[in-house]
Amino acid sequence: MRTPVVAGNWKMNGSKSTVTALLQGLKQGLNPGRASVVVCAPFPFLGLVADELSGSAIQWGAQNASQYPAGAYTGEVSVGMLQEFGCSHVILGHSERRALFSEQNEQIAAKFMAVIDAGLTPILCVGETLEQREAGTTAQVVEEQLMAVVDAAGVIAFSKAILAYEPVWAIGTGRTASPQQAQEVHETLRKRLAAVDGAVADKLPILYGGSVKAANAAELFACPDIDGGLIGGASLDAEAFLAICHAAE
Ligand code: 13P
Repeated sequence: MRTPVVAGNWKMNGSKSTVTALLQGLKQGLNPGRASVVVCAPFPFLGLVADELSGSAIQWGAQNASQYPAGAYTGEVSVGMLQEFGCSHVILGHSERRALFSEQNEQIAAKFMAVIDAGLTPILCVGETLEQREAGTTAQVVEEQLMAVVDAAGVIAFSKAILAYEPVWAIGTGRTASPQQAQEVHETLRKRLAAVDGAVADKLPILYGGSVKAANAAELFACPDIDGGLIGGASLDAEAFLAICHAAE
């Protein structure tokens, strides 16, 4: 039995006041249950998030990290720095970083290894564009994104990781993958990993992301290979995010 995970990806949103209000709403409203709940905040808010969430049932993390431990890398943030702020999770390879900041599989794999080596949990994102889906290459694209990291980091590293399937065409568009579409890709990913290591594949949480809302979460999370969600827009609203967490119970 895999533990459900609901992770919020705040992206580049929020202010000190809205973050404080959001976290207080989450702390007050969350009924501790079976699901792990994580919020991934912009770097400057991590100190505030740590102060607010310490001692609560909610874990927190970042949306990116450098593959390097320290040095002359202007603008970068190391995994060690994230640890100092109590982060437990790091989102890696999000499609926005792949598309807008030119992150490639090789660099994402190096970041993944840095996060694993520090004992933090990477949330590795994979997903196809609409063009790739329409060309019938979805399975090939997501398997390639997954296997680039498996080949570099080793399959055992995935016993400490989370995978997120986020179809690019469903992110921020209001157009969610149907439960059947999402389940099909989740199953493909799990089978591909099972071809390398069945036990690791069986235990790996695979989250769905892309326009998840309170209204569609339960149906998605009921699919056998969907173990929770990576939530963008709806994670900025305490009530909406709590309803999604509830749907994962
Ligand atoms: P939305 O939930 O806003 O579509 O974003 C999904 C996402 O990119 C989470 O990482």
